[in-house]
Amino acid sequence: MNANGSSERSQLLADIDPATYRSVLGRFVTGVTVITARGPDDRTVGLTVNSFNTVSLDPPLVLWSLALKSPSLAVFRAQNWVAVNILAHDQRDLALRFSKPAEDKFRGVAVQEGLGGAPLLVGATACLECRIRHRYPGGDHEIIVGRIVRTEASDRPPLVFHRGQFGAFTC
Ligand SMILES: Cc1cc2nc3c(=O)[nH]c(=O)nc-3n(C[C@H](O)[C@H](O)[C@H](O)COP(=O)(O)O)c2cc1C
Repeated sequence: MNANGSSERSQLLADIDPATYRSVLGRFVTGVTVITARGPDDRTVGLTVNSFNTVSLDPPLVLWSLALKSPSLAVFRAQNWVAVNILAHDQRDLALRFSKPAEDKFRGVAVQEGLGGAPLLVGATACLECRIRHRYPGGDHEIIVGRIVRTEASDRPPLVFHRGQFGAFTC
């Protein structure tokens, strides 16, 4: 919308190609999380996620969506404990590392063990430890709803994501 309230460029949903769709949604600024879990075979998984959001205060519920094609999906389906690590502004390297498939994403990364063995990333601005309560189909993603069981937070400034770029929050 411009200052007159009209749309500068409008497209019917049916006409939107994937690149435009991503570009439009990229206007929505988000924080950046790394969501982790430990599988029944002790394998740890973690991926960069910006679909994280709050759902409910009472009970304290949060959600995120996980691509059905993600190699981590099987572990997140087998394990009910997850940790949401909200990254700090100086953790861009971790955001990149956890956004690509790799054999051992945790090699050299400082972690503490959270509930259910989910890795908590040292230096994150906040960690939310959750028990998965619901899973819903969401197109090519699975929507996962977790109940927060334990939290830890700091005053470290957050990492933000906007139009495909990582940045810092200023106001
Ligand atoms: C900023 C950013 C946000 C992302 N958000 C999500 C997300 O919400 N859900 C998702 O499934 N993948 C998301 N991804 C992609 C995953 O991080 C990426 O596919 C990763 O390789 C998945 O881990 P895996 O291959 O070990 O399963 C995001 C990537 C970036 C860079």
